[in-house]
Amino acid sequence: MNERFTITTPIYYVNDKPHIGHAYTTILADVLARYHRLLGDDTFFLTGTDEHGQKVQKAAEKAGITPREQADQTVVRFQDLWKKLEITHDDFIRTTEERHTKVVQDILQDLYDRGEIYKAEYDGLYDVTSETFITEKDLPEGKSVEDLPNITRIKETNYFFRMSKYQDWLIEYIEQNPSFILPSFRRNETLGFLRKPLQDLCISRPKSRLNWGIELPFDSDYVCYVWFDALVNYISAPGYLRDDDRFAKWWPCDIHLIGKDILTTHTVYWPTMLKAMGVEQPRTIFAHGWWLFGEAKMSKSLGNVVNPMDLIEAYGVDAFRYFVTTEMIPGQDASFSEDAFIRRYNADLANDLGNLLSRLSNMIGRYCDGKLPDGNRTFDDGSPERLLWNDVQIAVDAMASAVNDLRIDQGATAAVSAVKNINRYLEIKQPWTLAKQEQHEELHRTLYTAAEALRVASALLFPVMPSKMGEVRHALGLDATRPDIARLKEFGVLQPGTAITPPGSLFPRIEREKATDTEPPGSVQPPEPPRSANKAPKEKAESGAAVPGVITIEDVAKVEMRTARVVDAEAIKGADKLLRLEVMIGDKRRQIVAGIALHYKPDDLIGKTVVVITNLKPAKLRGVESNGMLLAATRGEKLTLITVDREISSGATVR
Ligand code: MSP
Repeated sequence: MNERFTITTPIYYVNDKPHIGHAYTTILADVLARYHRLLGDDTFFLTGTDEHGQKVQKAAEKAGITPREQADQTVVRFQDLWKKLEITHDDFIRTTEERHTKVVQDILQDLYDRGEIYKAEYDGLYDVTSETFITEKDLPEGKSVEDLPNITRIKETNYFFRMSKYQDWLIEYIEQNPSFILPSFRRNETLGFLRKPLQDLCISRPKSRLNWGIELPFDSDYVCYVWFDALVNYISAPGYLRDDDRFAKWWPCDIHLIGKDILTTHTVYWPTMLKAMGVEQPRTIFAHGWWLFGEAKMSKSLGNVVNPMDLIEAYGVDAFRYFVTTEMIPGQDASFSEDAFIRRYNADLANDLGNLLSRLSNMIGRYCDGKLPDGNRTFDDGSPERLLWNDVQIAVDAMASAVNDLRIDQGATAAVSAVKNINRYLEIKQPWTLAKQEQHEELHRTLYTAAEALRVASALLFPVMPSKMGEVRHALGLDATRPDIARLKEFGVLQPGTAITPPGSLFPRIEREKATDTEPPGSVQPPEPPRSANKAPKEKAESGAAVPGVITIEDVAKVEMRTARVVDAEAIKGADKLLRLEVMIGDKRRQIVAGIALHYKPDDLIGKTVVVITNLKPAKLRGVESNGMLLAATRGEKLTLITVDREISSGATVR
């Protein structure tokens, strides 16, 4: 393709720390920018902070600091979050920077000189919350000024931009350019707004009322209205009036990504400002919906604002990026809940993606010495390989359209559904049975095909989860930083013989509640020894003193441990944490119930050599008899079974 692509986010107010709404817009822009870069497009991704105006001045007053200090302290919180979220913006503009303020002043002077800005007395209503002048018609139905504490009547001399004269032009422009405002229902919203007569826009605030702003170059008693200042960032950053070549390269912008609450400023103020300046219009202004908390709007006063940092700390950056990009249908509102987060994480990331990589690399380790086998690369019509590859190609096409239509949620969902199909393919082909039956050719074809399909899926998901997909690609012996997006339609890119390095657990399952009624990872928990303050422990340390928790060699000798080979495994109905295993200990078959179902699938266990405590009293778990306990290492949410380092027959003593 090799085009150029410019994308922007709104610039964020520095009156408060970032929340999920800010993080969402920025992640969505980042995902799109990353896709375009992979496609070979020359990309410019701009974000930044909106540092002037009443909101920031008030926050500073409240904190007892200057507005500049307020801005300097808060901008770091945004920049830190973007770093943490692996946001790859090419420029970060602060509206207090000279490269911006000077351009705003030049624009104001030019518009003033050309009569586009004039001075007049204003006598009317003012909305303190949105810092806008309003008319009686803008009041909510049935309400008067007296009912609304945020609305005041003011009489003030100010400067106005002749916005009204562009009303007819703007309506026509929007009608003739269907992709100028997206989604289309937002376009209709703006057209609806434009049915009422458009007022001129007050672009000044007297310093007596607000002094934290850019001074008007033609009247030092006034500062510029914060929106007239902020919107200009989109052109000051790429070099308007300062660097013609750079500006010509990056403007017009392809996508201004915004939230639905700032639709009017972006689709009415901004286009008319550009028209008056004689600057080309952006190609698309896309308004996404709101993140709600349950049904409610997030707000500081309700105390329901979701802090992205908390989620990142708890579940990881990539899981957070994945959740926000897939959970919200861009354009519509989405409701945030931690339960939904965990559900999506466990289903898509832990069960599908993480599990696929781990079982595939384990099987390649076990059956092919850890080297990608040289599988037959031709497909027969109707074969499972052909069907799988078709599914994967559907995801490739879905992602291509998703990038164009700004429906990354759909593209990512299609990629994860391809991953589910790879897991399904493995279940159909049963490589463990092929291995047992020594059907090497079919085994190699299966493992190679699954690995190729995973290569494609990981490339599709790379812009959404760059670190984790980098790990998948590294495990497959591929470039972990730059997936070759041009080769997604090609089968046979992976090099046979490549060492497949099993990664750590990619997405460890999240368990909501800590196990309370649950069994330990092995099957039977030895009864707690009675604890009595009066009873001294029997054992003595060398000194002769009893040391609680220390045991002797005789105690260890009491526990009989053996190697065992898992020959069968299945889930136990109604017990989502338990598996029923059949193991061979020498030539004896035993049944063991183990609480490992959240960490292992039955198929992954068959053929493994594990360690079992064999002289434990039998117990029944959910009505199923268990004769022994598996050993496992656990830390936090993670669990891994203890296995043997080298080949040894089952029934061997473990000491
Ligand atoms: N400074 C202006 C934008 C100027 S752009 C030239 C501004 N800043 S903001 O910090 O208040 O909001 C920035 C963006 O965050 C807006 O697009 C807004 O829609 C978005 N969000 C704020 N809360 C949100 C949610 N709860 N959900 C989704 N996005 C929301 O407006």
